[in-house]
Amino acid sequence: MSGMRRLSLTKEENCSLVNELYAEEPKPSSGITLSSKELNFSVSLPLLQSNDGTRFIDIRKLTDLTGLYTYDPGFSCTSYCCSKITHIDGAKGILQYRGYDIHDLTENCSYLEVCYLLIFGRLPSKEELDCFENEVLDEMFVHEKIKDLYKSFEKDAHPMAIMVGVVGALSAFMRKAEETNFENQRFTTAVQIISKMPVLAAIAFRTSRGLPLVEVDRKYGYVENFLRMMFKSPTSEWTVDPKIIKIMEKLLILHADHEQNASACTVRIASSSLANPYVCIAAGIASLWGPAHGGASEAAINSLEKMGSPENIPSFLESVKAKREKLMGFGHRIYKSYDPRADIVKKAVNDITALFGETDDKDILSVALKLEETALKDKYFTDRKLFPNVDFYTGIIYKTIGIPKDMFTVMFAVGRAVGWITQLNESRIEQPKIGRPRQIYMGYLNRKFEPIEKREKKKFEVVIPKHSELFKIPFHK
Ligand code: SDX
Repeated sequence: MSGMRRLSLTKEENCSLVNELYAEEPKPSSGITLSSKELNFSVSLPLLQSNDGTRFIDIRKLTDLTGLYTYDPGFSCTSYCCSKITHIDGAKGILQYRGYDIHDLTENCSYLEVCYLLIFGRLPSKEELDCFENEVLDEMFVHEKIKDLYKSFEKDAHPMAIMVGVVGALSAFMRKAEETNFENQRFTTAVQIISKMPVLAAIAFRTSRGLPLVEVDRKYGYVENFLRMMFKSPTSEWTVDPKIIKIMEKLLILHADHEQNASACTVRIASSSLANPYVCIAAGIASLWGPAHGGASEAAINSLEKMGSPENIPSFLESVKAKREKLMGFGHRIYKSYDPRADIVKKAVNDITALFGETDDKDILSVALKLEETALKDKYFTDRKLFPNVDFYTGIIYKTIGIPKDMFTVMFAVGRAVGWITQLNESRIEQPKIGRPRQIYMGYLNRKFEPIEKREKKKFEVVIPKHSELFKIPFHK
């Protein structure tokens, strides 16, 4: 490392790098005509084409030209940004970060190498990677007052609730990131986010179990430091099988980014108001927690444990088909084929099983394998193109390593943090338009106001569990 220039870019380097990272809008390739006899218009709207050949109607002038708006709950067929970060081909089950296939990256790279690729747009040289790792390890600590925040949570507080709080609180300590001219902060903030997330996650784990905290040790790499901060025994030397580190590297890489998923979209929308990047990432953590998104890894393992054995699969799937519950870890908005990440995780399950031998999770694994096999033979799932997604098998690996269920989505958040800050940085390369969708208003219009004495005597009691009931404090009626 001696003589290696610290990760400081000259103004010119910063500028040229930002230009490279900027996701230029495609030039209109042709146009389509939209016409309506009833509304008496015929307009031409430009057609845009992405690098993978997908075509988009540019509707920015639609309202000016026709007075019409569009409606697309969940943005199923709506794009809201141009991006150069991640490409997904949902039909073919392809995932690429900055053009590199996820299989090549998980097989050959460290997680920090992939972080460098996502942030700077290219794979680093050995020297650059060493310098980057040096920068990240340098920052793997948090302000002592942040550690105090953990003491205010109840022992059984969900670690994701803690992470939303403490990551948001970083904004009170990392004050330079408040500068709205994000120009010089973007790469520093990216390094800070990557450095702090594993530390905050490990503190959430350690404090919830009353364990003393473990500080970074420069003897170890990034991922090993993360595992060590989580699992080092207070009374014995730290050792870990390098195969576990490799599997953890893979899992973090698999979770690193996934284009405009719900949490990345949350981060971009939060950032579109020029909010502090740390609170935008906290918003992303909040969105990720939901069981429809990153919370599915915890929900999936709960389902598998509830089923308990393969003979309960048919009745469970009947309940899913009757829409009484979802098959957690299955289905995806974009992948209408096998999620390539699920395939890589499934293979990693074999590695972890080989490492740990038969564990009491073998039943859960047999249920998961049988569940996938049964569902993929069932028209209900194949007709709807429902396949395992990244969350279906990850919990089995985490559980085998000894990571508790309530930490599964935290692991997802640690891996995804680099994707969120990369999406945020890309969105802030030029002044973003604030995200402000329209709605189809179906409520009352122009109601006549009635003074309270003239209102109908409808009986409508709002009864909510009060704090007093929670703490059994006898209130005087
Ligand atoms: C992640 O977007 C990303 O990239 C996310 C992610 C990332 O890396 O950031 O990949 C990570 O969040 C993966 C997804 C994790 N969530 C789950 O595993 C929860 C279970 N999955 C579903 O809730 C659902 O599949 C979603 C939320 C993932 C996708 O929902 P969509 O695209 O809105 O699909 P849909 O609800 O319109 O479903 C279409 C049909 C419906 O049936 P019909 O109305 O046609 O009869 O498929 C059914 C749905 O009921 N369906 C399921 C199902 N998923 C969809 N039925 C049972 N079990 C499921 N899991």
